[in-house]
Amino acid sequence: MVFLGHKRNISIIKQYGLRGIENMKLVIGNDHAAVEMKREIKEYLEKKGYEIIDVGTNSTESFHYPIAGYRVAKMVASHEADGGIAICGTGVGISLACNKVKGIRACCCSEPYSAEMSKRHNNANIICFGARVIGIETAKQIVDAWLNAKFEGGRHETRVNMIMEIEETQKLQAADETK
Ligand code: RB5
Repeated sequence: MVFLGHKRNISIIKQYGLRGIENMKLVIGNDHAAVEMKREIKEYLEKKGYEIIDVGTNSTESFHYPIAGYRVAKMVASHEADGGIAICGTGVGISLACNKVKGIRACCCSEPYSAEMSKRHNNANIICFGARVIGIETAKQIVDAWLNAKFEGGRHETRVNMIMEIEETQKLQAADETK
């Protein structure tokens, strides 16, 4: 394991098990609007020890964001990756595409607080942001906040299960039972 300080290592072991972050596999995808931001985030995470699978474009020629979003989401849903990062111009279109894949909770964030809460309360398995909306330093903070946070479970698990019930059945029983 990369030495990151005793407390940090213990928290990583609790979250990811003994394999640590150097074996944590993340998938990253982007459209033409986010080539440079993808490159910088990928390099940033590789330096920290994450394995990164890049399914985005490296060209500034027009590239449809649903393709990149679908590729990221499929790898996360099938557990070929432990989590995903999806970037387009706003982060909005690509998050919509990701969320169409069953099992995906993709959250578009423009600041680190929401990114942290997206994992703690919503168990987000993909984090999205917009290369035309935020700068690279904010993007790094968002990724760190999401990666370092842990799902809290409990009442939040009940709510995440409700989201999955809607996805599974197109219904939500609790909505009919609650005034
Ligand atoms: C591409 O021009 C742009 O529409 C895309 O990157 C994204 O912002 C869509 O939501």
